[in-house]
Amino acid sequence: MTFPEIGADYCVGSAILPPNPSGINRDNRPFMALLPILRYPDDRLHTVARKVEEVDATVRKLAADMAETMYAAPGIGLAATQVDQHRQVIVIDVSEDKSQLLTLINPEILERSGECEGEEGCLSVPGIYETVTRSAAVRVRALNLDGQPFELAAEGLLAVCIQHEMDHLQGKVFVEYLSRLKQTRIKSKLAKQARITA
Ligand code: NI
Repeated sequence: MTFPEIGADYCVGSAILPPNPSGINRDNRPFMALLPILRYPDDRLHTVARKVEEVDATVRKLAADMAETMYAAPGIGLAATQVDQHRQVIVIDVSEDKSQLLTLINPEILERSGECEGEEGCLSVPGIYETVTRSAAVRVRALNLDGQPFELAAEGLLAVCIQHEMDHLQGKVFVEYLSRLKQTRIKSKLAKQARITA
């Protein structure tokens, strides 16, 4: 997920994060690689991700590469679906100084409340920003990189980002909340961009 101005005039509220919930140390990731990001309307973005059976070295490597790819883009969230890996893995960092990397494996929403309208963007839909209505607060359960379950209460930008990335794992891109007409316009705009960069 991307934002035109990170955190600017967004749904009021802040994230309540447990200390280092993902259990990852950003300075301790030796082998990282940038992964290619699928672009809407690529059909592979509609793949439903399967659950991670075991949080092993392969999953940890995927999460580390996804984080690197997200920071480099730059973005504030990335789902494995977007890098053509169809496993339930999400990385998010909505902090301004990029110091709060959060990795969610097999995330489930336990509770939602309120409604929040905000502008969203997506690394798979470059340059497009549209307003989407989401739950204002969510309570999520997921596994961390050690395979341990944890719960997270999020509101504001973090809550929106979690919902956006969890949609990716279900094969849904945020523009699919928009009207057919808008989706068609976005597709032709992206096709034009692709021709220019090709
Ligand atoms: Ni996205």
